[in-house]
Amino acid sequence: MNAYDAGRMADLLYKSHKLSMVETPQQADLIILNTCHIREKADDKIFSELGRLKKLTKGHNSNKRYIFGVGGCVGQAQGAELFKRAPFVDLVFGPQNYHHLPHMLNQVLDGKRQLHDIEIPPESKFDALPSAPSSGFSAAVPVQEGCDRFCTYCVVPFTRGREWSRPVADILQEIKNLTEKGAIEIELLGQNVNAYLGHDPDGVEHDLALLIKQVSLVNGVERIRFITSHPADMNDDLIAAFGEVPQLNSYMHLPIQSGSDKILTAMERGHTVAEYLTWINKLKTTCPQITLASDFIVGFPGETEEDFQNTLNLIKEVRYGHAYSFLYSPRPGTAAADMKNIVPQEVGEERLSRLQELINTIQIEENQAQVGRVESVLVEGVAKKGEGMLAGRTSGFRRINFLAPEELIGTLANVLVTEARPNSLIGEFIRGNK
Ligand code: 5AD
Ligand code: SF4
Repeated sequence: MNAYDAGRMADLLYKSHKLSMVETPQQADLIILNTCHIREKADDKIFSELGRLKKLTKGHNSNKRYIFGVGGCVGQAQGAELFKRAPFVDLVFGPQNYHHLPHMLNQVLDGKRQLHDIEIPPESKFDALPSAPSSGFSAAVPVQEGCDRFCTYCVVPFTRGREWSRPVADILQEIKNLTEKGAIEIELLGQNVNAYLGHDPDGVEHDLALLIKQVSLVNGVERIRFITSHPADMNDDLIAAFGEVPQLNSYMHLPIQSGSDKILTAMERGHTVAEYLTWINKLKTTCPQITLASDFIVGFPGETEEDFQNTLNLIKEVRYGHAYSFLYSPRPGTAAADMKNIVPQEVGEERLSRLQELINTIQIEENQAQVGRVESVLVEGVAKKGEGMLAGRTSGFRRINFLAPEELIGTLANVLVTEARPNSLIGEFIRGNK
């Protein structure tokens, strides 16, 4: 979502001020950090990056007037407070009001300093953004934003705001614009995308499954993905879509965070491990080749070795093709920040490395299980390594490199998987069978 937002800021500023992207901070007139507030580490990174950027104003280029902005969730969470730590910053804004950027920039150009705008406005930013987003062959489209779930560890409901779904017609129009510019894969985005509930112009309610079906009817859409989903917002129609919509990729990111019911309750996730496994098994039945992915938080307050073992057991049972894992990071303002029974840092770190080892082992085994299969691959470009090699993604979102002519870039190609690497596959293009 941050990558999408950053792209839209660039589209917007090109339209309003003819600003275009440059390669290095030195070349820029305006430098925006689009930030993440999810864990303390991400937050810390912003301030060390700001420290580096400040040096720009002191080097041989010190006569140049750089304009600095901080957007995203750190901007939202800090507001005017940010100027205390970084007084040279000109603009602070949040993820729901970056469409005000041209106006804010005008004010700075008029000599104003230290402007902040973190109100979540009543109007939708999407209505104020240029209608044609820049795009590649695979294009992200936000369909839902914000979150009402308030998991006890998470800042997202505070920074992205409350849950909100875009109207069906707006989404379909954006997708038409993207396919006209060459996109063949559409990635539907939302903090809690399977809670999507939008309306078409006739007032008919659409959940995510119905939206996916509408998207599949747009001319030129050859692939559809969606990310990220919440187990408590699953429904059978979404699972059925994997069998019914040929363009829907065989990939599902369904984070569980922990394999212990006690911890899931403390996180207020709203479901049990058994309920989660029921959804996983239904997914595997409907789409046997599905790649499953999850997020895990290790070291949540009160997590015992037994709770942690339950998480490892769950990973062994589901056999994820891919997973993100994090050490629990207490966030100011969240319910968990006040919880007792803190897991000592070294215990958490040790558990995290055991968990990552298991995830990696299973990922490699799952990659090996792909050898011999013919995969439909979205060819994204020339591979970084290997002469004549192209790089793409399988429907299960695995990276794959293979020897093939460059004219295949931007199309779907059939590729036989011949070799598995820890984080990618090697394949052979099946000629004449695009
Ligand atoms: N500490 C660690 N990880 C977190 N996540 C969200 N909040 C925290 C936190 N306070 C992780 C969750 C979520 C992902 C986007 O980030 O796993 O799914
Ligand atoms: Fe955060 Fe996801 Fe929980 Fe929402 S559902 S509060 S975004 S972890």
